[in-house]
Amino acid sequence: MARDNIYKSTDVQAGTFEFNEAVAAVFPDMLQRSIPGYQQTIEAIGMLARRHVQPASHCYDLGCSLGAATIAMRHGIEAQGCKIIAVDNASAMVERCRSIVAADDAETPVEVLLSDLQEVSIDNASMVVMNYTLQFLPQEERAAVIRRIANGMRPGGVFVLSEKVIDEDAALDEHLTGLHHDFKRQNAYSELEIARKRAAIDKVLVPETVASHVARLKDAGFRHAGVWLRWFNFVSLLAIR
Ligand SMILES: C[S@@+](CC[C@H](N)C(=O)[O-])C[C@H]1O[C@@H](n2cnc3c(N)ncnc32)[C@H](O)[C@@H]1O
Repeated sequence: MARDNIYKSTDVQAGTFEFNEAVAAVFPDMLQRSIPGYQQTIEAIGMLARRHVQPASHCYDLGCSLGAATIAMRHGIEAQGCKIIAVDNASAMVERCRSIVAADDAETPVEVLLSDLQEVSIDNASMVVMNYTLQFLPQEERAAVIRRIANGMRPGGVFVLSEKVIDEDAALDEHLTGLHHDFKRQNAYSELEIARKRAAIDKVLVPETVASHVARLKDAGFRHAGVWLRWFNFVSLLAIR
């Protein structure tokens, strides 16, 4: 796995983070060393697919990057006649994702689309995953995205939404941010790398509270919604249609 050294040598302008070739080349390492609980979330996505994917239905991975959640779903699915649609609007991610999927031998067909996820129609879905992607969409567009997902899902279908969050309690939020930075130090990111990444992603990734995510999911028509995993200020929510 190529090491994420992006912010070791490159100075950054605030708010300039993008999913380009340099990021795609080191992305698995970046995710593992930056997101507490990332691997556990991917594993759970496979378990959820085994339990909830319905025969002859569609599964979506919106903001698929290199397809980690797609591959987990693909290996979890036991239902017959399903198809996975993986979507990302970064060509560097999609190219690599296509070769990763091609090298994988699980049965369920996968279509990898280079597209804005807002342009992709969602239908007949029994499982949808947005693993750390909604946070990159403009806030005012998020409700419509979640509503479109809910409208395209079968009854009993599951939606996994993982996000960086902010806590309502500002002091607690500061502690959780400190703990996240400790997590990154523990994973061998330097003070300079942590500071540069923080500046680069400022206003590119806009986190919200858990309460606002749950309210939006319920408004969109999910019958049940709540957190199944939280590690510092990173959460994964499960919503059931
Ligand atoms: C943090 S990464 C997601 C990680 C991935 N889901 C995983 O589990 O490994 C966010 C991804 O969302 C993609 N993205 C952001 N906005 C998007 C949009 N409007 N349409 C499609 N993809 C988008 C980015 O290109 C990036 O690859």
